[in-house]
Amino acid sequence: MKIITTENYADLSKAAAGVIAALLKKKPDAAFGLATGSTPVGTYQILIEMVRAKELSFARAKTYNLDEYCHLPQDHPQSYYTFMHRQLFDHIDILAENIHIPLGDTVDLEKSCADYNNLLAGADIDLQLLGIGGNGHIGFNEPHTPFTKTTFVVELTEKTRADNRRFFNSIDEVPKLAITMGISNITAARRILLLASGAAKAAAIRELVKGEVTEAFPASVLKNHPDVTVIIDREAAALL
Ligand code: GLP
Repeated sequence: MKIITTENYADLSKAAAGVIAALLKKKPDAAFGLATGSTPVGTYQILIEMVRAKELSFARAKTYNLDEYCHLPQDHPQSYYTFMHRQLFDHIDILAENIHIPLGDTVDLEKSCADYNNLLAGADIDLQLLGIGGNGHIGFNEPHTPFTKTTFVVELTEKTRADNRRFFNSIDEVPKLAITMGISNITAARRILLLASGAAKAAAIRELVKGEVTEAFPASVLKNHPDVTVIIDREAAALL
């Protein structure tokens, strides 16, 4: 696991965008696993600027998002579908048919999991971008999720719902279920890039770097992966 510590969030975003841009320049039809959350927003902004400046093109790239809330309409302002379009897809030259996000707004969630899993089986993801939850979750793989899991429906922990409460009018509106790539889908990516910013992530980063590999801390599985880069800012690195 390679750890890069930057001075602040702006530098973290620059470094992460640099990794993504370098891969895309080398391999214009690369497949990216993408993440939501506030952490990658700065990275996405830099990528948008590069596309606008014609330095970069996603015209042949494919993307696969990690997760989506269940039973939230796709066009709901807080769906990950809406988030990704607003934060990235609406502003770059990616083709709509090359964007993949799990379908959470469906009555047949089992089929939705199977469909996404089939899609991922042929996806051959070059780079998976990840954030990290305060409890070590990646995607929506909460503590004690078996590392062998493929795409599944997860009951969100109260901690995760409370963390995401800020985006909704009330805690009751925060979805209780989400569909997420499983840990084995995530670790199938050729390369992994995990980002963490701010003091709220410092304990999770210490656990990731210094702790042991355990299903109690989902991100620890990354220690078994051969090509992981972790980019953190000084605040997130404070407990190392
Ligand atoms: C959500 C997402 C994760 C993300 C995490 C951290 O739970 N499902 O993929 O990594 O939030 O979000 P943030 O970057 O806002 O701290």
